[in-house]
Amino acid sequence: MTTNPAIQFFHVWDTYAKVVSGDYMFHQELGEAVSAVIRSRFVDQSIRILDLGCGDAATFAPILQDLSIESYLGVDLSAAALTLAEKNLSFLKHPGEFQRADFMRALADAPQQDVIYISFALHHLQTFEKAEFFHQAAQKLSPGGLVVFVDVVREEGQDLEAYHRNYCDFVQTTMITLNKEERDAICAHISGNDYPDSHSVLCMHAKEAGLELISTSIPQKWHQLIVFQRS
Ligand SMILES: C[S@@+](CC[C@H](N)C(=O)[O-])C[C@H]1O[C@@H](n2cnc3c(N)ncnc32)[C@H](O)[C@@H]1O
Repeated sequence: MTTNPAIQFFHVWDTYAKVVSGDYMFHQELGEAVSAVIRSRFVDQSIRILDLGCGDAATFAPILQDLSIESYLGVDLSAAALTLAEKNLSFLKHPGEFQRADFMRALADAPQQDVIYISFALHHLQTFEKAEFFHQAAQKLSPGGLVVFVDVVREEGQDLEAYHRNYCDFVQTTMITLNKEERDAICAHISGNDYPDSHSVLCMHAKEAGLELISTSIPQKWHQLIVFQRS
C-alpha cells in the first residue's frame, strides 16, 4: 500500500473513473435527471451554484455546459481533485472558484446560492450531521433555490450492516470491468466510511430544516436523486 497521498489519490480516482464510465452508480441517468430539474427551474436565469464534495467535477461539467452560470464554487478536501475540477470547468464564462475545505465549513461560510449540489458525498456523514447539513443549506438558499442531492441511499428498514453487505455483493457482481483488487478496495472503503440513510430519514431531516421535497429519481434502489426547495 502506497503512502504517497498524490499517488494514492490518483489510484483511488482512477478506480472511481472506471465506476463512472461503467455507469455502475447510475451517473448517466442521475445526471440527465439533475440537468432536467435545474433547467426547468431556472429557465433564462443565471444561477449561483455551490458544489460540495465536487471531486474532479467530471460528471457535473456536461450539465453545467447547458446552463447560464453566474458563479460556481466547488469545494473538496482533495487538492488534486480540485486541480482537475478547475481544468474540467475551464469553459465557464465567469471562472469558477475552487476551495479546499470541509464542505460543512464551506457551506457555513458561503454566500447565498440558487443551487446547492452535493453528489455522492453526504453519505460520509452521520445522520445528525446530515440534519445539520440540511439546516445550513436551507439558510443559504435563495427563494425558490434548490438542494440537488445525489447519493447512495439505504432501503427503508435496512440496517447499516445489511446495506454494507448487500452493496458489497452488488460491487463484486456488477462492477466486472474492475479487477478484484479494485472491487475489494471499494468494499473496504464502503464498510469503513459510508453511512447512507433511507429516503424517509433524509426527507424528514430536510423537512425539519424548512426544505420541501420536489422530486425523487431512482434509477436503482440504492442510487437516488432527491431535490428539495426552500419553502
Ligand atoms: C465519490 S466522490 C464524488 C465526486 C463528485 N461529486 C461526483 O459525484 O462524481 C466524493 C468526493 O467528496 C469529497 N469529500 C468527502 N468528504 C468531504 C468533506 N467532508 N468535505 C469536502 N469534501 C469531501 C471527496 O474528497 C471526494 O472528492
